[in-house]
Amino acid sequence: MISTRRFLQFAGLAAATVMLAACGKKEPAPAPAATAPAPAPAKVYVVGTDAAYAPFESQNEKGEIVGFDIDVVQAIAAKAGIQVKFVNTPWEGIFNTLQQGDRDMIVSAVTITDERKQTMDFSDPYFDAAQLIAVKDTSKVTKFADLKKLKVGVQTGTTGDEAVSKLMGKTSTSIKRFESTPLALKELESGGVDAVVADNGVIAHYVANNPGGKFKTVSDKEFVPEQYGIAVKKGNAELLGKLNQGLAAIKADGTYNQIYAKYFGAPPAAAASAPAPAASK
Ligand code: ARG
Repeated sequence: MISTRRFLQFAGLAAATVMLAACGKKEPAPAPAATAPAPAPAKVYVVGTDAAYAPFESQNEKGEIVGFDIDVVQAIAAKAGIQVKFVNTPWEGIFNTLQQGDRDMIVSAVTITDERKQTMDFSDPYFDAAQLIAVKDTSKVTKFADLKKLKVGVQTGTTGDEAVSKLMGKTSTSIKRFESTPLALKELESGGVDAVVADNGVIAHYVANNPGGKFKTVSDKEFVPEQYGIAVKKGNAELLGKLNQGLAAIKADGTYNQIYAKYFGAPPAAAASAPAPAASK
């Protein structure tokens, strides 16, 4: 049996809890006394992403930004103890937003390239990629060089644009540049271009989800291996350190593999994705 004293203690505690809860609902906490320095509000890092690049970043029916990159950065942020907020940002000019201070980082399936490294810093790589060609399933294209005499769609300023520019000449009028990769793929569907070159994950996802488009994909070893990184303003070593620490932590504890499996169905095989399982080989 519970003693009267214990009961009263308990009841008092319960009443206090109820009062506290009620109080918390009705009124905001009183402003701290002028003498006590107010704690600095936790910084929310603004993350720019071109959310038209499923499965890496896209908008769902509710307009929320979702995808592999989003989950990865959220998991990194949780490990690093930082807060992040994603802002849809057009690909063209996306890197300028770092310079201007409008965005603290860019996660947008961004390939780490030597050229980009001159004007921004990158986290350790978090994903392996390569270019892939999409054509109509009736197309005779079997390799990248076959695109030379065709009309090719790319997203402006991407590594796909670079590869095609190298093949056909930067000023070739047969290169059709689009502000997003889905727009290029729609043009392929309607026959405005003969092929689209873009990141393999995005092409594969689009082809699989648009059976009506009657596409097929063509890979070519000519395409150099690419790796995605999170871009920050050049010199932002503090944030970069946090991101790399968080990335290492999610790779080490299996979180990365879980996210990978959620989007790609199987655990990653390649070097940039995860440490090799200890027992294998
Ligand atoms: N990986 C390619 C690049 O860095 C394409 C990235 C495009 N990303 C996007 N969200 N649109 O150039």
